[in-house]
Amino acid sequence: MNKDKLSSRDVFSSKFGVIAAAAGSAVGLGNIWKFPYITGVYGGAAFLFVYLGFIALIGLPVMLSELSIGRKSRRNVFGAFKYLAPNSPWKLVGMLGVAAAVMILAFYGVVAGWSIDYIVKAATGSFAAKSPNEMESMFVNFIEGPVSPILYQLLFMVMTMAIVIIGVKDGIEKYAKFLMPLLVVIIIVLCIRSVTLDGASEGLRFLFNPDFSKLTGDGILSALGHAFFSLSLGMGTLVTYGSYIDDKNNIAVTALQVTIADTVIAILAGIAIFPAVFAFGIEPSSGPGLVFMTLPNVFQQMPGGFFFAILFFLLLTVAALTSSISILEVVVAYFREELNLKRNFSTILATVMISFIGVFCSLSMGILKEYTMFGLNFFDLLDWISANILLPLGGLFISLFVGWYLGRKKIEEEFVKGARIVNWLVMVFIFLVKFIAPGAIAIVFLHGLGLFNFG
Ligand code: PHE
Repeated sequence: MNKDKLSSRDVFSSKFGVIAAAAGSAVGLGNIWKFPYITGVYGGAAFLFVYLGFIALIGLPVMLSELSIGRKSRRNVFGAFKYLAPNSPWKLVGMLGVAAAVMILAFYGVVAGWSIDYIVKAATGSFAAKSPNEMESMFVNFIEGPVSPILYQLLFMVMTMAIVIIGVKDGIEKYAKFLMPLLVVIIIVLCIRSVTLDGASEGLRFLFNPDFSKLTGDGILSALGHAFFSLSLGMGTLVTYGSYIDDKNNIAVTALQVTIADTVIAILAGIAIFPAVFAFGIEPSSGPGLVFMTLPNVFQQMPGGFFFAILFFLLLTVAALTSSISILEVVVAYFREELNLKRNFSTILATVMISFIGVFCSLSMGILKEYTMFGLNFFDLLDWISANILLPLGGLFISLFVGWYLGRKKIEEEFVKGARIVNWLVMVFIFLVKFIAPGAIAIVFLHGLGLFNFG
């Protein structure tokens, strides 16, 4: 990258801008759609607690590592590794991130398309007077499509592309600043309605009363994978955001705020959903449809539910957009930097490619559902490989890079820029990125993939 390009990079003017952008990327379908559904699949509270442990011990240090790499290099993930570790294979970490981004956005677009369809369903009164069973068949009939879920998926992908091309990302983030708090308000309203349903307490027990004997190696690996997925880590998204952060900002505080916001929203989503799951007799391990099959029942049983439902799916779609743009940008950056393609062309090419793969994800819910690998359909396969393998692998390399390659002096320098951070905190961070994060990722990997049994 040449000098002009570097000097014309702008930095976020306000602290809130950085947090809004990073939180916009982190908070999305991961919190509201994926977290409840995989918590249901892996048995509830025990999964939640392992997930929280991973967030604190691995997610937070990896997030700080990504922000540090970005701010130090003032480049996106490809440029960053080339600049900080010239002529070394470290830039392959960026490639891993591109592979993850392509896979994630392919199925992410499908689920976001479901959310758009549910705006329409809510607005046309489709939830009215339906029993929980009918809600379930309505969902299943819809995702089996084949045509309409694909059209909504493509619509979402075009919206994502348009935002990246027109460059109104900052504008979107301005709206997101008040739309996301509004989403949180609606989720809290849903929580209140949900926990006051008959039979709600069983749902709360499911979510908060752990039975660790239910945990499997695959469940632990999925908790790790979801910590990365939900915080947008392991593929360089936050390297790019870090590159725009002013030297005067305290990145440790930013990382902490984003992590807390993301985690609180996921837990709130869990509280909104599980009591209702039990109250309406829905199977907690229903899979990717859990949220779509459950929440319409709750809306139906609350005052103003008609409007809340429209608003909820609308805001969920916006939350998905502020995440999907950050995923698309990883691929676009790759096309531009490594293949020297023009920005707009890169964006269109990436969108077309990812949408095409996404179509097969959508079809794997219906006409292609018989085609499986390791017992997973195409949709689940992309989700599993990207979240449970590629992102943690990316996180492993990123923590090794910061902890072992950059070394203590450089981290300390970057870390204390813009903040007066006490010495022991720096030491804790270094200890976490050097030993705990890579060690834990390696162990969970080997155990989860059945390559090694840690008992
Ligand atoms: N964190 C986003 C979500 O929870 C998804 C995402 C993953 C975004 C990886 C960027 C990178 O919805």
